[in-house]
Amino acid sequence: MKTILVTGGAGYIGSHTVHLLLENNYNVLIIDNFDNGVQKNIPENVKFYQIDLRNISDIRKVFSENQIDAVVHFSGYIEAGESMADPYKFYNNNTFAGLNLLKVMIEHNVKKIVFSSTAAVYGEPEENPITENSKKIPTNFYGSSKLMFENILDSFEVYGMKNICLRYFNACGAAFGLGEEHKPETHLIPLVLDVALGKREHIKIFGTDYQTLDGTCIRDYIHVLDLAKAHVLALKHLEEKNTSLKLNVGTGKGFSVKEIIDKCREVTGHPIPAIESSRRDGDPTTLVASAEKIKDIFNWESQEDLNSIISSAWEWHKKTF
Ligand code: UFG
Repeated sequence: MKTILVTGGAGYIGSHTVHLLLENNYNVLIIDNFDNGVQKNIPENVKFYQIDLRNISDIRKVFSENQIDAVVHFSGYIEAGESMADPYKFYNNNTFAGLNLLKVMIEHNVKKIVFSSTAAVYGEPEENPITENSKKIPTNFYGSSKLMFENILDSFEVYGMKNICLRYFNACGAAFGLGEEHKPETHLIPLVLDVALGKREHIKIFGTDYQTLDGTCIRDYIHVLDLAKAHVLALKHLEEKNTSLKLNVGTGKGFSVKEIIDKCREVTGHPIPAIESSRRDGDPTTLVASAEKIKDIFNWESQEDLNSIISSAWEWHKKTF
């Protein structure tokens, strides 16, 4: 049985992946500092360390106490807007702390890593769907901190380390009794569902003058369970082929902000008042993945549709209200 260290395993995508790894008979260890993760997401039978990757001696302790075969590295800050106000915070955690992790991996001869990257590495794309070879010019420091870490991972091939960088598009939905919650919440679907629950009065639509059919931004919404499956396949690829890859993880289909709100109205049966507001800084018009490469290499395709995304998120939101 392989032992996988999951950093950020108490967070949204991390915890879903932990559950799927356990279902696939991996032994799992979790590191989380609870900046974004929550204790209740950690399964009872899983060994857990509450440490911060910015402290290298704590990472050394985890690697000394366990025989680790591979790492799935989720932990990091994710809010693009916040990165524009506090770039140090993002480079310190997403880049420097990750470098600590890599150093200790090399010290302990652990040379396989799956990294949580993001569509934000592409910035405002020249083309949609976006392929892995599209230009990477991030429009925020969150995207740059992740791209920088991808580049560092490539440098670490010098030590024989292999990486698979999964560039997530818009993760959403719920599975395993877990769900999406951020502190503070800034993501579209949880905010819209909060309105349906009466926790917020309305949803603000950030910009209605984009060059799209209905004037609102288009994103590629990918179910967190489909995302989790991509991580399991990435680990298998590292075990069997031991080659590095950069892969988009998206559906290849885009939905506008208004289409998402309409789907939430349909699923929840709630009118969900919406207010047209000004654009949010740094929002690209359209981000849709080309999901061809991951299909070719892993035979992975998204299984869940928008209905299952919103329904699963709604079921979880109602329970946690
Ligand atoms: N939006 C609104 N109102 C809100 C919140 C969001 O109109 O109250 C709009 C945004 O302007 C955007 C869309 O809904 O057009 C989706 O916004 P999210 O904040 O849910 O997600 P983002 O697309 O900004 O970013 C997410 C992740 C990033 C990742 C990116 C990749 O947070 O980490 O998807 O597509 F890089």
